[in-house]
Amino acid sequence: MTSNAHNPLDVYRTYPEKNPYEIEPPVFNLVPCQAAEEVDTPQLKKACLNIAKRTGINVLQLTYGQYPFLLGELDDEEIETKPEPLSQYQPPPPLSRSILPDDAIFVSQLNKNGNTPIFVVKIGDDERVLKIYPEVDMYSDYRYTDSFDDEDQPVDPKILFAKEKEAYAHLLHAGVCEQRHVPRCYGWVELTPVHIDAIACVAPKLKYCESHDLSHLRKKAAEGRFPKGILLEYFPRAKRLSFKNVSYELSEQAVRSLHAIHAAYVHHGDIENRNVLVLPDDRVVWVDFNASTCTSDPKLTREQLFLEFHKGWNMFYMYELPNQRIGWDGLLGGL
Ligand SMILES: Nc1ncnc2c1ncn2[C@@H]1O[C@H](COP(=O)(O)OP(=O)(O)O)[C@@H](O)[C@H]1O
Ligand SMILES: [Mg+2]
Repeated sequence: MTSNAHNPLDVYRTYPEKNPYEIEPPVFNLVPCQAAEEVDTPQLKKACLNIAKRTGINVLQLTYGQYPFLLGELDDEEIETKPEPLSQYQPPPPLSRSILPDDAIFVSQLNKNGNTPIFVVKIGDDERVLKIYPEVDMYSDYRYTDSFDDEDQPVDPKILFAKEKEAYAHLLHAGVCEQRHVPRCYGWVELTPVHIDAIACVAPKLKYCESHDLSHLRKKAAEGRFPKGILLEYFPRAKRLSFKNVSYELSEQAVRSLHAIHAAYVHHGDIENRNVLVLPDDRVVWVDFNASTCTSDPKLTREQLFLEFHKGWNMFYMYELPNQRIGWDGLLGGL
């Protein structure tokens, strides 16, 4: 039996310490009813796809019902006047430093077009992901153009590294890696010129932070400013989440995992399907914590964690699942 007899404001007050999936009696529509899909007919799906391509709106978007923890205007006022501090928070120990051996093999680059270089590296028999944060002097190194608005303004890799490092310190300490909601993390490393030579062999045309290349990486290393990296568990054959590979079961797993991340007092900060990986054994993991904020930053509020849970729920039940039913990639004029 499920119930809607809960008060969203009370859920907010105990979020993330109390798991919304463990509220008794279970909350109505936290896991929506899959029966929504039963009414789909080929004609209906075709008509919806046509509308979606023209308007950018999938009219099946609300067929999984309403998100169960919607706050009203009065609740917002209450939250503003009486914020609930995250007083149970205990800071974790910092992420430990590891040594990347000189004979680590750089196997391949994962995201050739991304701003953060990511490599599969082999250390002994173990394959790992190495996410690299080079040294960049923002104002002198970046070629700023007028086309950047605030949102697109590139962020200093040092800040991105600090955020990802802080997030994994929290996630590891809270057991979120061990529970497989996110990759395991093997610490942070500093790369040496030997590693840069190894990168040159596998990615001679390496580009990062808009316009930088290997010569920039070498120049900074010669100044003693070595790139930093985060070592992570590698998932071979992982696919980014999309309308094509999403499923009802994966959706519940992923939203539960988002709560586990929040319970470690980590706000992900980039809730997008590209940051959810679907693994061959039909599991999902959240990746990419370089836009995250942890409660070690006093600016992070309980409300932000609570709102991000809503955003995650929407991503699956308002967008990816309804888009899958009509075969739409979510883009105006798409597919
Ligand atoms: N642990 C991993 N195992 C396998 N692939 C990964 C892993 N981490 C990242 N990737 C791949 O690299 C892409 C970019 O990773 P992400 O951490 O999101 O970096 P960015 O900060 O550039 O967005 C992911 O979408 C995924 O395709
Ligand atoms: Mg990403």
